[in-house]
Amino acid sequence: MALRLPRDALVPLLVLLLVVVHATDATQRLEMVTSSAPARGGAGAGTTSRARVAAASCASWRLGVETNNIRAWYSIPAACRGYVSDYMFGEQFRQDCAVVAREAAAYAEGLALAGDGREAWVFDVDDTALTNLPYYADTGFGAQPYNATYFEEYVANATAPALPEVLGLYGKLLALGIKVVFITGRHDYEREPTVKNLRSAGYHTWEKLVLKPSSLGSSVVPYKSGERQKLVDAGYRIVGNMGDQWSDLVGAPEGDRTFKVPDPMYYVA
Ligand SMILES: *[C@@H]1O[C@H](CO)[C@@H](O)[C@H](O)[C@H]1NC(C)=O
Ligand SMILES: *[C@@H]1O[C@H](CO)[C@@H](O)[C@H](O)[C@H]1NC(C)=O
Ligand SMILES: [Mg+2]
Repeated sequence: MALRLPRDALVPLLVLLLVVVHATDATQRLEMVTSSAPARGGAGAGTTSRARVAAASCASWRLGVETNNIRAWYSIPAACRGYVSDYMFGEQFRQDCAVVAREAAAYAEGLALAGDGREAWVFDVDDTALTNLPYYADTGFGAQPYNATYFEEYVANATAPALPEVLGLYGKLLALGIKVVFITGRHDYEREPTVKNLRSAGYHTWEKLVLKPSSLGSSVVPYKSGERQKLVDAGYRIVGNMGDQWSDLVGAPEGDRTFKVPDPMYYVA
């Protein structure tokens, strides 16, 4: 009898305490995800609870980015620099790419193909067929302002490695008789190093390589969807479309199915 009173009082107190702790935690997480100010902790903060909160909030941020819920962001949150670096250089990115490639291959293999040479698969180039991880790792994953000179140097070098999973898919599509079309945001004056780089990375053949006319503005969706429309007008059936940015994939005609390669490094409208 004497125990009942404190116990009854204890339960609401505990609940209240939990709610307060939880709310504080949630607010803190939300701040870390949405704040553009550099966080004091971040991934380098060690084994503190703040580091765990940062890892969880950065995972949520990455999910938001991949699902196109978070848009028009300029650079990764400062607190997530270590997280993105670990993700890109670690097993998770590889696994995530493997899932994309596996689903795409299963889809392509399940198609009733006409085999008339008019079935096409559209690939983006940067951070889809090729990876620019060396450039982004060197510039703080977008934390430093975009350096056009450096990036043009990187493109001119023509040393970007293939994304292995995408290269594997490319081979399977060719074996199925599907034509490959690259539509890239790289400019037409970068054709030579782009051809060289695609070849040296293992992409030995393609139906078309479409580069952006220098006269065009920076908006990707009208350019890429316009080029897909030209393909359709020329009699191609776009069975698949793969890119690392949503702007590679949206805008009619999208293609029968789209596949998003993970990319938490930058956002292109
Ligand atoms: C941009 O890149 C060029 C070429 O690598 C380099 O010389 C220059 O210092 C960089 N600029 C900034 C602001 O980092
Ligand atoms: C270009 O290649 C040279 C030689 O391999 C290398 O030293 C340099 O860092 C590369 N530059 C870029 C921007 O990738
Ligand atoms: Mg890209």
